[in-house]
Amino acid sequence: MFNKKKKLKQFAARKLVTNVSPRSIISEQFRTVRTNINFSLPNKDLRTLLFTSSSIGEGKSTSAANVAITFAQEGKKVLLVDADLRKPTMHYTFEKSNSPGITNLLTGHWNINEVIKESGIIGLHLITCGPIPSNPAELLGSSSMDNFIKEIREIYDMIIFDSPPALSVSDAQILSNKCDGTILVISSGLTEKKSIVKAKEILEASKANIIGTILNNYKLEKDHYYYQYYG
Ligand SMILES: Nc1ncnc2c1ncn2[C@@H]1O[C@H](COP(=O)(O)OP(=O)(O)O)[C@@H](O)[C@H]1O
Ligand SMILES: [Mg+2]
Repeated sequence: MFNKKKKLKQFAARKLVTNVSPRSIISEQFRTVRTNINFSLPNKDLRTLLFTSSSIGEGKSTSAANVAITFAQEGKKVLLVDADLRKPTMHYTFEKSNSPGITNLLTGHWNINEVIKESGIIGLHLITCGPIPSNPAELLGSSSMDNFIKEIREIYDMIIFDSPPALSVSDAQILSNKCDGTILVISSGLTEKKSIVKAKEILEASKANIIGTILNNYKLEKDHYYYQYYG
Protein backbone atom coordinates (compact mmCIF):
# COMPACT_ATOMS: atom_id res chain seq x y z
CA MET A 1 0.00 0.00 0.00
CA PHE A 2 2.74 2.40 1.01
CA ASN A 3 4.72 1.63 -2.14
CA LYS A 4 1.68 2.09 -4.32
CA LYS A 5 1.00 5.47 -2.74
CA LYS A 6 4.63 6.45 -3.20
CA LYS A 7 4.51 5.43 -6.86
CA LEU A 8 1.32 7.38 -7.45
CA LYS A 9 2.95 10.43 -5.88
CA GLN A 10 5.89 10.03 -8.23
CA PHE A 11 3.56 10.02 -11.25
CA ALA A 12 1.60 12.97 -9.89
CA ALA A 13 4.79 14.97 -9.40
CA ARG A 14 5.75 14.36 -13.01
CA LYS A 15 2.63 15.72 -14.70
CA LEU A 16 3.65 17.58 -17.81
CA VAL A 17 2.43 21.13 -17.56
CA THR A 18 2.60 21.81 -21.30
CA ASN A 19 0.23 18.89 -21.85
CA VAL A 20 -2.19 19.33 -18.96
CA SER A 21 -2.22 23.15 -18.80
CA PRO A 22 -1.11 24.44 -22.20
CA ARG A 23 -2.52 27.92 -21.47
CA SER A 24 -0.64 28.42 -18.22
CA ILE A 25 2.20 30.89 -17.70
CA ILE A 26 4.62 28.01 -17.30
CA SER A 27 3.62 26.52 -20.66
CA GLU A 28 4.04 29.95 -22.21
CA GLN A 29 7.59 30.01 -20.86
CA PHE A 30 8.30 26.66 -22.46
CA ARG A 31 6.95 28.02 -25.76
CA THR A 32 9.35 30.93 -25.38
CA VAL A 33 12.16 28.40 -25.01
CA ARG A 34 10.92 26.70 -28.20
CA THR A 35 10.87 30.02 -30.07
CA ASN A 36 14.39 30.81 -28.94
CA ILE A 37 15.59 27.38 -30.05
CA ASN A 38 13.93 27.89 -33.43
CA PHE A 39 15.72 31.22 -33.86
CA SER A 40 19.04 30.22 -32.35
CA LEU A 41 20.64 28.83 -35.49
CA PRO A 42 18.49 30.15 -38.33
CA ASN A 43 20.74 28.96 -41.12
CA LYS A 44 21.50 25.54 -39.72
CA ASP A 45 19.54 22.33 -39.48
CA LEU A 46 19.03 22.09 -35.73
CA ARG A 47 17.47 18.69 -35.37
CA THR A 48 19.17 16.98 -32.42
CA LEU A 49 19.10 18.70 -29.07
CA LEU A 50 20.65 17.62 -25.78
CA PHE A 51 19.38 18.67 -22.36
CA THR A 52 21.88 18.51 -19.55
CA SER A 53 22.87 20.30 -16.34
CA SER A 54 25.79 20.30 -13.96
CA SER A 55 24.19 18.05 -11.32
CA ILE A 56 21.07 16.03 -10.54
CA GLY A 57 17.59 17.36 -9.81
CA GLU A 58 17.96 20.62 -11.69
CA GLY A 59 15.11 19.93 -14.08
CA LYS A 60 16.78 18.38 -17.14
CA SER A 61 14.14 15.71 -17.66
CA THR A 62 11.23 18.02 -16.86
CA SER A 63 12.50 20.66 -19.28
CA ALA A 64 13.35 18.14 -22.01
CA ALA A 65 9.87 16.59 -21.89
CA ASN A 66 8.03 19.91 -21.83
CA VAL A 67 10.09 21.43 -24.63
CA ALA A 68 9.53 18.24 -26.68
CA ILE A 69 5.77 18.65 -26.16
CA THR A 70 5.80 22.30 -27.27
CA PHE A 71 7.58 21.29 -30.48
CA ALA A 72 4.94 18.60 -31.07
CA GLN A 73 2.22 21.19 -30.39
CA GLU A 74 3.78 23.33 -33.09
CA GLY A 75 3.12 20.48 -35.55
CA LYS A 76 6.62 19.05 -35.64
CA LYS A 77 7.35 15.34 -35.64
CA VAL A 78 9.28 14.93 -32.41
CA LEU A 79 11.21 12.11 -30.76
CA LEU A 80 12.16 12.26 -27.10
CA VAL A 81 14.99 9.90 -26.13
CA ASP A 82 15.79 9.00 -22.53
CA ALA A 83 19.56 8.92 -22.82
CA ASP A 84 20.04 9.16 -19.08
CA LEU A 85 21.16 5.55 -18.95
CA ARG A 86 21.99 5.90 -15.25
CA LYS A 87 18.83 7.39 -13.73
CA PRO A 88 16.15 7.19 -16.42
CA THR A 89 12.80 8.84 -15.63
CA MET A 90 10.91 9.27 -18.92
CA HIS A 91 9.11 5.95 -18.50
CA TYR A 92 7.65 7.27 -15.23
CA THR A 93 6.75 10.60 -16.77
CA PHE A 94 4.88 9.04 -19.70
CA GLU A 95 3.75 6.01 -17.68
CA LYS A 96 5.37 3.50 -20.03
CA SER A 97 7.44 0.42 -19.43
CA ASN A 98 11.14 1.16 -19.45
CA SER A 99 11.97 -1.78 -21.72
CA PRO A 100 12.56 -2.13 -24.55
CA GLY A 101 14.50 1.07 -24.89
CA ILE A 102 17.58 2.63 -26.41
CA THR A 103 19.96 0.26 -24.61
CA ASN A 104 18.25 -2.72 -26.32
CA LEU A 105 18.77 -0.98 -29.63
CA LEU A 106 22.40 -0.05 -29.00
CA THR A 107 23.31 -3.57 -27.93
CA GLY A 108 21.95 -4.82 -31.23
CA HIS A 109 19.05 -6.93 -30.05
CA TRP A 110 16.16 -4.79 -31.27
CA ASN A 111 15.52 -2.57 -34.24
CA ILE A 112 14.44 1.06 -34.17
CA ASN A 113 10.74 0.46 -34.88
CA GLU A 114 10.52 -1.99 -32.01
CA VAL A 115 11.76 0.52 -29.44
CA ILE A 116 9.83 3.63 -30.50
CA LYS A 117 6.75 4.16 -28.32
CA GLU A 118 3.69 6.37 -28.69
CA SER A 119 3.92 9.01 -25.95
CA GLY A 120 0.18 9.61 -25.72
CA ILE A 121 0.72 13.11 -27.14
CA ILE A 122 0.07 13.79 -30.82
CA GLY A 123 3.30 14.26 -32.74
CA LEU A 124 5.55 13.02 -29.96
CA HIS A 125 7.23 9.63 -29.91
CA LEU A 126 9.33 8.30 -27.09
CA ILE A 127 12.30 6.00 -26.68
CA THR A 128 12.78 4.99 -23.07
CA CYS A 129 16.10 3.93 -21.58
CA GLY A 130 15.66 0.16 -21.46
CA PRO A 131 17.67 -2.05 -19.09
CA ILE A 132 20.34 0.01 -17.32
CA PRO A 133 23.69 -1.01 -18.81
CA SER A 134 27.01 -1.44 -17.05
CA ASN A 135 28.79 0.67 -19.67
CA PRO A 136 26.59 3.72 -20.47
CA ALA A 137 29.40 5.92 -21.79
CA GLU A 138 30.67 3.23 -24.16
CA LEU A 139 27.16 2.62 -25.49
CA LEU A 140 26.56 6.32 -26.09
CA GLY A 141 29.93 6.69 -27.80
CA SER A 142 29.46 3.61 -29.98
CA SER A 143 29.05 3.49 -33.74
CA SER A 144 25.57 2.01 -33.11
CA MET A 145 24.68 5.36 -31.50
CA ASP A 146 25.97 7.23 -34.55
CA ASN A 147 23.91 5.00 -36.83
CA PHE A 148 20.86 5.47 -34.62
CA ILE A 149 21.15 9.27 -34.79
CA LYS A 150 21.65 9.13 -38.53
CA GLU A 151 18.54 7.01 -38.92
CA ILE A 152 16.24 9.09 -36.69
CA ARG A 153 17.34 12.34 -38.32
CA GLU A 154 15.68 11.06 -41.48
CA ILE A 155 12.39 10.42 -39.68
CA TYR A 156 11.90 13.27 -37.19
CA ASP A 157 11.95 17.08 -37.36
CA MET A 158 13.28 17.35 -33.82
CA ILE A 159 15.00 14.82 -31.58
CA ILE A 160 15.46 15.68 -27.91
CA PHE A 161 17.87 13.75 -25.71
CA ASP A 162 17.70 13.73 -21.93
CA SER A 163 21.02 12.98 -20.24
CA PRO A 164 22.81 12.58 -16.90
CA PRO A 165 24.51 15.56 -15.24
CA ALA A 166 27.60 16.81 -17.04
CA LEU A 167 29.84 17.09 -13.99
CA SER A 168 29.50 13.57 -12.64
CA VAL A 169 29.93 11.38 -15.74
CA SER A 170 31.11 11.79 -19.32
CA ASP A 171 27.81 10.74 -20.97
CA ALA A 172 26.55 14.28 -21.57
CA GLN A 173 29.91 15.27 -23.02
CA ILE A 174 29.82 12.35 -25.44
CA LEU A 175 26.24 13.08 -26.45
CA SER A 176 26.69 16.82 -26.79
CA ASN A 177 29.40 16.16 -29.33
CA LYS A 178 26.91 14.19 -31.41
CA CYS A 179 24.03 16.68 -31.12
CA ASP A 180 23.45 19.87 -33.12
CA GLY A 181 22.74 21.84 -29.96
CA THR A 182 23.00 21.56 -26.19
CA ILE A 183 20.88 23.27 -23.56
CA LEU A 184 22.20 23.68 -20.05
CA VAL A 185 19.51 23.63 -17.38
CA ILE A 186 20.28 25.64 -14.27
CA SER A 187 18.28 25.46 -11.07
CA SER A 188 17.84 28.88 -9.56
CA GLY A 189 19.29 29.06 -6.07
CA LEU A 190 20.56 25.49 -6.25
CA THR A 191 23.23 25.38 -8.93
CA GLU A 192 26.47 26.98 -7.84
CA LYS A 193 28.06 29.45 -10.21
CA LYS A 194 31.33 27.52 -10.34
CA SER A 195 29.44 24.33 -11.28
CA ILE A 196 27.80 26.13 -14.18
CA VAL A 197 31.16 27.43 -15.40
CA LYS A 198 32.74 23.99 -15.02
CA ALA A 199 29.87 22.26 -16.86
CA LYS A 200 30.13 24.79 -19.69
CA GLU A 201 33.89 24.23 -19.89
CA ILE A 202 33.72 20.45 -20.08
CA LEU A 203 30.90 20.50 -22.62
CA GLU A 204 32.79 22.97 -24.79
CA ALA A 205 35.89 20.79 -24.48
CA SER A 206 33.94 18.11 -26.32
CA LYS A 207 32.90 20.66 -28.94
CA ALA A 208 29.35 20.99 -27.69
CA ASN A 209 27.32 23.71 -29.30
CA ILE A 210 25.68 25.26 -26.24
CA ILE A 211 22.81 27.21 -27.73
CA GLY A 212 21.33 28.40 -24.45
CA THR A 213 20.40 27.87 -20.86
CA ILE A 214 17.13 27.37 -19.02
CA LEU A 215 16.85 28.89 -15.59
CA ASN A 216 14.50 26.59 -13.72
CA ASN A 217 12.81 27.08 -10.37
CA TYR A 218 13.16 30.83 -10.43
CA LYS A 219 10.64 32.29 -8.01
CA LEU A 220 8.88 35.44 -9.10
CA GLU A 221 6.47 37.58 -7.11
CA LYS A 222 2.83 36.66 -6.75
CA ASP A 223 1.30 35.14 -9.91
CA HIS A 224 4.57 34.07 -11.42
CA TYR A 225 5.82 31.15 -9.45
CA TYR A 226 7.99 29.75 -12.15
CA TYR A 227 10.06 31.50 -14.72
CA GLN A 228 12.46 30.50 -17.39
CA TYR A 229 15.03 32.53 -19.16
CA TYR A 230 16.69 31.40 -22.28
CA GLY A 231 19.49 33.16 -24.04
N1 LIG B 1 10.26 24.23 -11.83
C1 LIG B 1 9.87 23.19 -11.11
N2 LIG B 1 8.92 23.31 -10.19
C2 LIG B 1 8.54 22.27 -9.42
N3 LIG B 1 9.06 21.03 -9.51
C3 LIG B 1 10.05 20.84 -10.42
C4 LIG B 1 10.49 21.89 -11.28
N4 LIG B 1 11.47 21.40 -12.08
C5 LIG B 1 11.63 20.10 -11.74
N5 LIG B 1 10.78 19.76 -10.75
C6 LIG B 1 10.67 18.45 -10.08
O1 LIG B 1 11.96 18.22 -9.49
C7 LIG B 1 12.32 16.85 -9.63
C8 LIG B 1 13.66 16.75 -10.39
O2 LIG B 1 13.46 17.23 -11.71
P1 LIG B 1 14.06 16.45 -12.96
O3 LIG B 1 13.54 17.12 -14.19
O4 LIG B 1 13.81 14.97 -12.84
O5 LIG B 1 15.60 16.76 -12.74
P2 LIG B 1 16.89 16.13 -13.43
O6 LIG B 1 16.44 15.40 -14.64
O7 LIG B 1 17.77 17.31 -13.74
O8 LIG B 1 17.51 15.24 -12.39
C9 LIG B 1 11.15 16.15 -10.34
O9 LIG B 1 10.32 15.55 -9.37
C10 LIG B 1 10.43 17.29 -11.03
O10 LIG B 1 9.05 16.99 -11.18
MG1 LIG C 1 16.63 13.43 -15.18
